[in-house]
Amino acid sequence: MAVFDCLRGLSKPTNRPLAAGASFLPTTGIPRSAKDHVIETNPIILVLILLVPGFLYTFPFMPSLKSSIERLAALGEVEHDPSARQTFLEFREALTQGKIRAAEKIHGRWTVNAWVKQGILLGFRLGQLAEMGSGACLSFVDKDTFPARQFSAADHVRVVPGGSSVREGAYVAPSVICMPPMFINVGAYVDEGTLVDSHALVGSCAQIGKRVHLSAAAQIGGVLEPVNAAPVIIEDDVLVGGNCGVYEGTLVRARAVLGAGTILTRSTPLYDLVRGEIHRATLDTPLEVPENAVVVPGSRAVTSRQGSSSEVKKGAADAWGLSLYTPVIVKYRDQKTDRGIELENWLR
Ligand SMILES: CC(C)(COP(=O)(O)OP(=O)(O)OC[C@H]1O[C@@H](n2cnc3c(N)ncnc32)[C@H](O)[C@@H]1OP(=O)(O)O)[C@@H](O)C(=O)NCCC(=O)NCCS
Repeated sequence: MAVFDCLRGLSKPTNRPLAAGASFLPTTGIPRSAKDHVIETNPIILVLILLVPGFLYTFPFMPSLKSSIERLAALGEVEHDPSARQTFLEFREALTQGKIRAAEKIHGRWTVNAWVKQGILLGFRLGQLAEMGSGACLSFVDKDTFPARQFSAADHVRVVPGGSSVREGAYVAPSVICMPPMFINVGAYVDEGTLVDSHALVGSCAQIGKRVHLSAAAQIGGVLEPVNAAPVIIEDDVLVGGNCGVYEGTLVRARAVLGAGTILTRSTPLYDLVRGEIHRATLDTPLEVPENAVVVPGSRAVTSRQGSSSEVKKGAADAWGLSLYTPVIVKYRDQKTDRGIELENWLR
């Protein structure tokens, strides 16, 4: 109780949360001399300031961004909460700066931060339709909470002219190259040295590693729909070939190569001809492409599982000579693969 009395003596509560790392002393509104007097005559306060700064800065004035987002996401009528927009804007800026991520690798394991998706959905709830763009020829109408990002040379991101768009709330690291037209959606994280080629999509919350090549028309699916979807993760030094589609939380491990036209979803079994395994997503885990795997589009016979309908299906497939598309691991990356996908440094 004494602690709270001391805090009350120093700081009149305001509606505004304290910025991270900020001291509450300058916000009290008490004249400087009076503050000094309070400190000099209250040794307990001095001890608190010296010993527990983290406590003073974060409790009870600044609930973390995560808990603020979770609280707002749980509200039915968030539009009427005056702090909601400001909290969302802080959240969006942290995403744009790459300080928070939809998923992150902790001790070698990818962990999904579900609250980040909640924050993004909050932005859609709070947003009002607004007219954007130059107005003369090209005009756009979108939620005002998700405008397009404006880059400057200081960002060291090359955005080649020709109709690309990166939403606020997407992190694009210095040295990334964006070829036109391409789109990077909110919550996406694109790391250093990556090339996003023409007609490529980096969907919402997708996590793209360092030195990844997203080839022309590669589609990296987003996470906002369906509701419980996990983000697609492409680790470092992966080549995603032209016209590939990687969806539904698929995890592509480092240095894997997806041959042109490969499609990966939660429902696609991945046949590993080298190791004699079939990789599948489970209820709890996404489809995972192993490190260094070279995956190409293939086909397989229609299978017959228990149950009459699939037997009918197989009978019809045999009669018509049909097979189904499937991705196949034909090899693990070797020097020939490296030569085939080597990038020209001078272009970077
Ligand atoms: C996958 C890829 C990199 C080839 O890798 P590689 O290590 O040189 O592969 P190899 O030539 O050793 O082929 C291994 C096996 O896979 C087969 N294969 C290779 N690429 C294939 C493809 N895209 N589709 C089907 N089969 C393929 C080969 O025929 C070979 O099988 P075989 O021995 O039975 O004939 C290449 O096919 C590819 O898709 N490159 C991406 C091109 C692209 O999208 N560029 C971007 C431009 S913006």
